[in-house]
Amino acid sequence: MSDSFNFSRRDFLKTAGVSSLVTAVANVGEAEAQATGSQPIGPGEVPVQLMVNGKRIDLKIEPRVTLLDALRMRADMTGNKRVCDRGACGACTMIVDGRTVYSCSTLAIEVQGKQIRTIDGLSDGTKLHPVQQAFCDADGLMCGFCTPGFVMATTAVLEKHPNATPEQIKKGLDGNICRCGTFVRVFEAALKAKGVLHG
Ligand code: FES
Ligand code: FES
Repeated sequence: MSDSFNFSRRDFLKTAGVSSLVTAVANVGEAEAQATGSQPIGPGEVPVQLMVNGKRIDLKIEPRVTLLDALRMRADMTGNKRVCDRGACGACTMIVDGRTVYSCSTLAIEVQGKQIRTIDGLSDGTKLHPVQQAFCDADGLMCGFCTPGFVMATTAVLEKHPNATPEQIKKGLDGNICRCGTFVRVFEAALKAKGVLHG
């Protein structure tokens, strides 16, 4: 067999399986559109309007684009970091309508009409937010990649529970991982921030 047609049965079966799946999904999409009278959106770029840190942002993006990518790549908001990109580490944590979300695993299109908050909007000009200040004071970071996510998760838990117990803080931060292992100082920062926010 020539190099130009080096196609195994396994490759054929994989390709056939994928094409059938794509056809099946397309058929389901068409059937649903017919049943509901709705129009499918994408796969090309569509207008998406987001409210981020109190400001409206108009984008044209494919519906598959995540909130993290939309803001980092299209809106120059690079505060929140992409680390695992699969909903496992929490570095990309943002607050949407008061709840923490992994922005790497949230589609931008699905958070239209919601209030999105990112680390980029937390400080007041040059004045750090109390949670940011507490992280500095407690030296709660090493490489810093996880820090924006921890700061957002801490902010969310303290806004929800101004008198948060250590257990509530631990629970609020249990979706975030620090690979440098600075958990003790992160926790200390959260407790300091609790005092500041409360005071
Ligand atoms: S980058 Fe989103 S959870 Fe790790
Ligand atoms: S400070 Fe490096 S991952 Fe947390």
